[in-house]
Amino acid sequence: MERTFLAIKPDGVQRALVGEIIRRFETKGFTLVGLKLLKVSRELAEQHYGVHRERPFFGGLVEFITSSPVVAMVWEGDGVIASARKIIGATNPLTAEPGTIRGDFGLNIGRNLIHGSDAPETAQQEIALWFKDEELVSWQPHLTPWLH
Ligand code: TYD
Repeated sequence: MERTFLAIKPDGVQRALVGEIIRRFETKGFTLVGLKLLKVSRELAEQHYGVHRERPFFGGLVEFITSSPVVAMVWEGDGVIASARKIIGATNPLTAEPGTIRGDFGLNIGRNLIHGSDAPETAQQEIALWFKDEELVSWQPHLTPWLH
């Protein structure tokens, strides 16, 4: 079953949007298999955003992501990687469609509330970077197996 890594960034936590954001994936029908609140280390932030190391916004991005707690999650379901990206919306909240998380709640590209893996390879890398195997729980919803 496909899995993706999502993280509610410091702005989402500070703005008390954790429940609202989790609700969107939960009510869609995806299955939560990993969840933790953590203060991100500089090392983890630099590894996670390593692909952007040379970009002008990299320093500010690392500062921001390490500034206060983040909610890290792994969600499971058919097509969850692409679907979660649609639920999240475009990188710039000003152009993100209404109805998406960033479109509904965001104003600033540097404060866009949530991260979601963009492809199967990055999902796998990010899950391994943020979670130990024993922190992930494989389970099936009993009442609604057809959701998958
Ligand atoms: P990116 O991977 O391009 O976007 P996404 O989060 O939608 O996958 O960029 C990673 C983060 O870097 C993005 O969520 C916000 C930040 N960022 C900026 O602050 N300024 C920028 O110009 C870009 C492209 C990204």
